[in-house]
Amino acid sequence: MQTSVISEEIKPLQQQSFISEIEIGLLARPAYISPKFLYDPLGSHLFTAITLLPEYYPSNTEKNILDHYANEISNVIGANGILIDLGAGNCQKAEALFNLIKPATYVAIDFSVEYLEEALNKLQGKYPKIKMRGIGMDFSRQLEVLDSIPMSRRTFFYPGSSIGNFLTSEARKLLTEIKNQTGDGGLLIGVDLMKEDFILREAYDDPLKVTAAFNLNILRSVNAHLGSNFNVKQFQHLVKINHQENRVELYLQALEDVTVSWPGNSISLKEGDLIHTENSHKYTVESIKQLLKSAGFESNQIWTDPKQYFALIYAQ
Ligand code: AVJ
Repeated sequence: MQTSVISEEIKPLQQQSFISEIEIGLLARPAYISPKFLYDPLGSHLFTAITLLPEYYPSNTEKNILDHYANEISNVIGANGILIDLGAGNCQKAEALFNLIKPATYVAIDFSVEYLEEALNKLQGKYPKIKMRGIGMDFSRQLEVLDSIPMSRRTFFYPGSSIGNFLTSEARKLLTEIKNQTGDGGLLIGVDLMKEDFILREAYDDPLKVTAAFNLNILRSVNAHLGSNFNVKQFQHLVKINHQENRVELYLQALEDVTVSWPGNSISLKEGDLIHTENSHKYTVESIKQLLKSAGFESNQIWTDPKQYFALIYAQ
């Protein structure tokens, strides 16, 4: 009989604190919802669909960089270590690394536990020799100490420019927490670079409207957590590019006056009002180097694509 790689390791995420976290955001003006709530089971599938869109350059560019510099990357990381995947999702990116760095242990961490469990069980079947563990964790709050995992030969893997979701101060905090748990290992991180507006717009407002569906689905995810009655039909996906802050911003805009209620509270929005759902910060090679340095990483190796759309960095 096959046993789950995840059930005993997984830590139950704290439902109650998510409710108050969501409420605080909805009652704020302008209202906001943390992007982690994008990743309910459907949202995780929709994000996977986004990564398959030709317009969503981060995924294909990162993959190209990884393929092109496979030898250099596997040489700096080395074989037989521990691969710790932050935001593993469908574990596809880690799987691409398996053949390169042949890890002895794979630790997959994600906020979206159900989705992770399914992916990880499949992966364990495919790679029976790699020791695998899944951990449910909200590391956007704090990277919990991985006590039960040996401290040597750790490689933290944080691909896809997920670091872009954080403000600089939050990103520095998370990177510092990673550095403190890295020991003699390192961090392989993917970072999206600043580029022309039209490329960003196509990537975040794609013609098939997959990103719109992904963004709107956060309202259903919130309904499930909060018991609220958001109606997806009353909102539209909106993208802004903020040049001051070097980021793409995602919003949901009310198409009419809306009242939303949930046990104990309610909010009213006017037609045109916005709910901020995501920031996706874009770096320059210089600004990300500086951020990594300020988090305690002393050295790094940077690989980019010919168009300089994306950077893959190994930092120690
Ligand atoms: C997973 C945070 C890297 O910011 O590009 C994709 C999420 N949002 N399309 C990104 C996302 C809309 C993505 N990250």
